[in-house]
Amino acid sequence: MTNDDSTAPTTGDALANLSREERHFDPPEELAAHANVKADAYHEAASDRLGFWARQAERISWAEPFTDVLDWSKAPFAKWFVGGRLNAAYNCVDRHVEAGRGDKVAYHWVGEPGDTRTLTYSDLKDEVCKTANALSELGVKTGDVVAIYMPMIPETVVAMLACARLGAPHTVVFGGFSADALSGRIQDCDARFVITADGGYRRGAASALKPAVDEALRSCPDVRSVLVVRRTGQDDIAWTDNRDVWWHEIVDRQSADHTPEAFDAEHPLYVMYTSGSTGKPKGILHTTGGYLVGTAYTHWAIFDLKPETDIYWCAADIGWVTGHSYIVYGPLANGTTSLMYEGTPDTPHKGRWWEIAQDYKATILYTAPTAIRTFMKWGAQIPSEWDLSSLRLLGSVGEPINPEAYIWYRKEIGGDRCPVADTWWQTETGMIMISPLPGVTSGKPGSAMKAIPGVEAQVVDDAGEPVKPGSGGYLVLTDPWPAMLRTLWGDDERYRETYWSRFPGRYFAGDGAKLDEDGDIWLLGRVDDVMNVSGHRLSTTEIESALVSHRKVAEAAVVGAADPTSGQAVAAFVILRESAGDGGQDVVNELRDHVAKEIGAIAKPKSIMVVPELPKTRSGKIMRRLLRDVAENREFGDATTLADSSVMDLIKANLSQGKGDED
Ligand code: PRX
Repeated sequence: MTNDDSTAPTTGDALANLSREERHFDPPEELAAHANVKADAYHEAASDRLGFWARQAERISWAEPFTDVLDWSKAPFAKWFVGGRLNAAYNCVDRHVEAGRGDKVAYHWVGEPGDTRTLTYSDLKDEVCKTANALSELGVKTGDVVAIYMPMIPETVVAMLACARLGAPHTVVFGGFSADALSGRIQDCDARFVITADGGYRRGAASALKPAVDEALRSCPDVRSVLVVRRTGQDDIAWTDNRDVWWHEIVDRQSADHTPEAFDAEHPLYVMYTSGSTGKPKGILHTTGGYLVGTAYTHWAIFDLKPETDIYWCAADIGWVTGHSYIVYGPLANGTTSLMYEGTPDTPHKGRWWEIAQDYKATILYTAPTAIRTFMKWGAQIPSEWDLSSLRLLGSVGEPINPEAYIWYRKEIGGDRCPVADTWWQTETGMIMISPLPGVTSGKPGSAMKAIPGVEAQVVDDAGEPVKPGSGGYLVLTDPWPAMLRTLWGDDERYRETYWSRFPGRYFAGDGAKLDEDGDIWLLGRVDDVMNVSGHRLSTTEIESALVSHRKVAEAAVVGAADPTSGQAVAAFVILRESAGDGGQDVVNELRDHVAKEIGAIAKPKSIMVVPELPKTRSGKIMRRLLRDVAENREFGDATTLADSSVMDLIKANLSQGKGDED
């Protein structure tokens, strides 16, 4: 049975008071009757996990078949589909055209200013082939790393697939990251080529990208070519001859014929950087065969994808893993028709997403809780003005979705008929790991439910023992899975240490979780020094080092404070250098801008408090728990392990003098 609005609970606690039936949303009958995946999939996969994945591998076209499903003999370094050879771009594009589906739309793209483009699978194939030829002309060879720093335009997909076609791993850097973040990533993976655009449209204006590339490349002398898409036509764009090449000048004149080469299943497909609990971002390596199998299966199973009829919309940015797995590789491998939108949801009006969903008759929408909470804030009146009756399934990703947001999403966007799949996964996992299956599972607001068929997860205590229903602990994955990361780029030891040492033989995800009485999983957030801001991972240490690199800052501590819209918000505490005096009037803004420059606007602290001291233990470790209490406006918890217990009083006194700041 479903909750009707009058009884819909608004908080997790209220939900807990309802009977179990009332907390469930059963799969819609019609959907369940025709669902891609039925309940027996769990049993089928559990009884022969590798056989299950071997069958899923039939979704992919192999130039050479694999001889073994998994080689785990050098754990934690996995090889999936051993000996198999394939080309990822061929799988995403050519084979659909060869099968007579060339006229099927791959992407309906909507630019923020209102311009639109439609790319069929034939169009996409031609563009990818031409771009692969252009990249070869620029000297890109198999194994070369190509950095991609782009807005949300079709060329971003084309660029990724052209790289994949050549066996040149790409590293897409989110367009919101700063020049410094870009150069750090280019250097770390030794990229020699960059693909970018003059800019993209955001919030009603052209937002430049190329200047950040120019700045980044001052410290990347090994980059040979920069391929630049003209998107905004800004005319003051700086140009470095012999290095910069306009996309239209080199790509458009290429032949649309290109023979894809087959690569080993373990050939690197891409590197994606993500924050870890220590400062330096980690280069997560994904390889070809297992990643495609994992993303194709999960996209088909969890979104119940019907490629003939669905209009699927993943509203993430391609610069994040969600975009890689569920805008590009999974959907294209499945021959999906997708929607892609360039800009922000409130431009030129707050109903923009709903207008697009209505106009294109979107059937599936996949987005993040932070977006849902923003829409809640704007009010249900806005989506109600559009016809969203085409929608049949909703997805959520990036952070725990609070029951209130889940129920709002289900009701106001999904008309109380669409199941909501709360999907848990990570950059590292490459594919969705824990999620309801829409035709099988009764969804519970706030729970990601169970590991999907073929995936094994546990919640364990400190000693690594599985906890009983009703208890909490750490989330671990007990068996390798096809789309798993293979290592950290250039750092096998850090890979082993970060993920496989806390509970030997098992993958430790860094998340806390609890099992409810039914054994369903509720994610509780990170247990390390990683924050989750609007579904994006940011490391506290990374922001701290950005702050202390400012000449006025002596010491900094950063915590994630609960935030009603973004899940967590960055709260910073800084001690100024004596030479900086009181820092001056604008010190807080100066520091926020500094962090934006060092990392990107997304990492800007929401609040910065100038404090005389930081609370530390006798061994010098900052007690973040106490700072979180301050940031969340609570009474301080137990401060007895502080080296100097008067520090918290000092901070308190300082705050009451109004030295904190928040925007
Ligand atoms: O803490 C979990 C949270 O996001 C982290 C992974 O972040 P990232 O690698 O940036 O990937 C985000 C998109 C896959 C996880 O360790 N997280 C992600 N999805 C959920 C979630 N927490 C709770 N529920 C989810 N559905």
